[in-house]
Amino acid sequence: MQSSEISPLIPETVKFSKANLRTMLLKYGMIYVKPEHGTYGNGVMKVEQSKDSHGTEYKYQSGTKIKTFGAYDTFYSSLKKATRGRSYLIQRGIVLLKHGKHRFDIRVMVQLSPRGKWETTGLIGRVAEKGKIVTNYHNGGTLMSMEKLLSPYLNDAQQAQMLKILRKLGEDTGRFYHKKYPGFKQIGVDVGLDNHMTPWIIEVNTSPDPYIFKHLSNKSMYRKVMAYRRANEKKKSAN
Ligand SMILES: Nc1ncnc2c1ncn2[C@@H]1O[C@H](COP(=O)(O)OP(=O)(O)O)[C@@H](O)[C@H]1O
Ligand SMILES: [Mg+2]
Repeated sequence: MQSSEISPLIPETVKFSKANLRTMLLKYGMIYVKPEHGTYGNGVMKVEQSKDSHGTEYKYQSGTKIKTFGAYDTFYSSLKKATRGRSYLIQRGIVLLKHGKHRFDIRVMVQLSPRGKWETTGLIGRVAEKGKIVTNYHNGGTLMSMEKLLSPYLNDAQQAQMLKILRKLGEDTGRFYHKKYPGFKQIGVDVGLDNHMTPWIIEVNTSPDPYIFKHLSNKSMYRKVMAYRRANEKKKSAN
């Protein structure tokens, strides 16, 4: 958020509080409420507010369970209880593109190359399990090639352009992150695409799983990711 280049790509994100929840729901209608220090999509909730002639309805989904409320106070108490006293964030919800009926997002793997440059070494799609609001592989998600996911939306030239944008986004994020935290040699950026094909940074992971790339039939990405990882580990032990 401190980078003028990167911050416009991050959906508005604020601390969880009763006042912030109300403001963000009014502003966006759909938001994500998630643990500040979470993994595997655990504890992530999708929250929505909708209006009709009968009044306002609030609902939230955690896992595959959806709860609906007619009053803000009971809705807030239930949601607050679901955070179980942990530190939570509220983020503008991105309406992710779908593969068939399932939402998907993208993991961009970015590593410091053996020559000391930040390089995007892997791009892979993650498709949510039926009825789920998270795409994480460790939460039932399915890994899929970018081509398979983007083909229904973009022609070959547009796909190539999109991959270029995503690679640059990863590399910009890596370089900026490294300035602040020089110890990190690899990051995994979770990127969501909306129906305007705008890429949004949902999260930056500092210990991304390299093995997800083994699931692609083309193993060239996996081999590169592992080679860069080994080179960085060697350097670390040499220092
Ligand atoms: N703001 C958001 N808009 C749309 N989907 C989101 C948003 N935040 C999270 N998600 C979904 O939930 C998943 C898990 O959220 P994330 O912030 O990456 O937490 P974790 O650290 O548990 O992976 C994301 O990969 C994405 O599928
Ligand atoms: Mg994530």
